[in-house]
Amino acid sequence: MQILLLGKNGQVGWELQRALAPLGNVVACDFDSPAPHTANFAQPESLAALVQAVRPDVIVNAAAHTAVDKAESEPELARALNATAPAVLAREAAARGAWLVHYSTDYVFDGSGDSPRDESAPTAPLSVYGRTKLEAEQAIAASGCHHLILRTSWVYATRGGNFAKTMLKLAAERDTLNVIADQIGAPTGAELLADVTAHALRQAVVQPALGGLYHCVAGGETSWHAYARFVIEHARAAGQPLKVAPDAVHAIPTSAYPTPAQRPLNSRLDTTRLREAFGLELPPWQSGVTRMLAEILGR
Ligand SMILES: NC(=O)c1ccc[n+]([C@@H]2O[C@H](COP(=O)([O-])OP(=O)(O)OC[C@H]3O[C@@H](n4cnc5c(N)ncnc54)[C@H](OP(=O)(O)O)[C@@H]3O)[C@@H](O)[C@H]2O)c1
Repeated sequence: MQILLLGKNGQVGWELQRALAPLGNVVACDFDSPAPHTANFAQPESLAALVQAVRPDVIVNAAAHTAVDKAESEPELARALNATAPAVLAREAAARGAWLVHYSTDYVFDGSGDSPRDESAPTAPLSVYGRTKLEAEQAIAASGCHHLILRTSWVYATRGGNFAKTMLKLAAERDTLNVIADQIGAPTGAELLADVTAHALRQAVVQPALGGLYHCVAGGETSWHAYARFVIEHARAAGQPLKVAPDAVHAIPTSAYPTPAQRPLNSRLDTTRLREAFGLELPPWQSGVTRMLAEILGR
């Protein structure tokens, strides 16, 4: 199987290089890959030539404009990367009978209420990022290509920066921390997403009826505040020198931390459809975060 992987150096893309390797020949590209493997999503039409050159059976798109706040001030670039480029990939996939695997987000929802949303819940994005990600979902579905779209949330990876690393740095420097407590979701490891992608793709290519839209997040739920406390308590137990006192990680509301892009308060996603379709378990969020912390802290 010939697999074209786009966004190879992102959180999810990096893990996909590993997880997809047993499925076939992975041609992994990013926007600074040398020609003819340059995948610049800011020039969406250029991706058609890349697809035609690589002749993939499967396109896996992990590239995106993920700077949610920055997207508010550069909506055209966000639209090119998040909506127009995936639409070109979908068109090219449809033309050659290839599969397209794509990632979307809980930000397609408005985050009202307090129960998990399934794939049929009405969308109502609050931000440029959410709107452009939703446009991609719609373009992919309309293209008629075989596809898997995995909506996920709160993605972290060991490689690069992440929320846990930021909290550990601040906890080493400051006496107190204020962390948002009224946004609820599930931290989801890039490793888990990549492994689920490989499992699902392996089944879908031989059972095309499995194609479609799925919610894919780790099990359980938490707030950013409880997530921060989990990380800090773990680091303290591991002997990490921290300045912040255990009772000095304070809960604050979203309204006390204004950002250019509005975030959904309720990021809970119901993963029943994914688990039942592919016979998968999604482990509790704590297991992936604990593993990531062990790698960061070296114990
Ligand atoms: N991160 C989250 O919390 C989250 C939550 C829900 C859904 N998702 C979705 O999950 C998917 C993977 O996200 P991620 O967290 O792995 O994102 P990420 O780490 O930000 O990676 C995005 C990738 O896109 C690349 N990219 C940026 N501009 C590009 C351009 N002009 N042309 C080609 N590539 C370009 C980036 O390259 P550079 O690194 O070199 O800039 C990077 O490799 C995305 O579809 C995202 O929308 C993410």
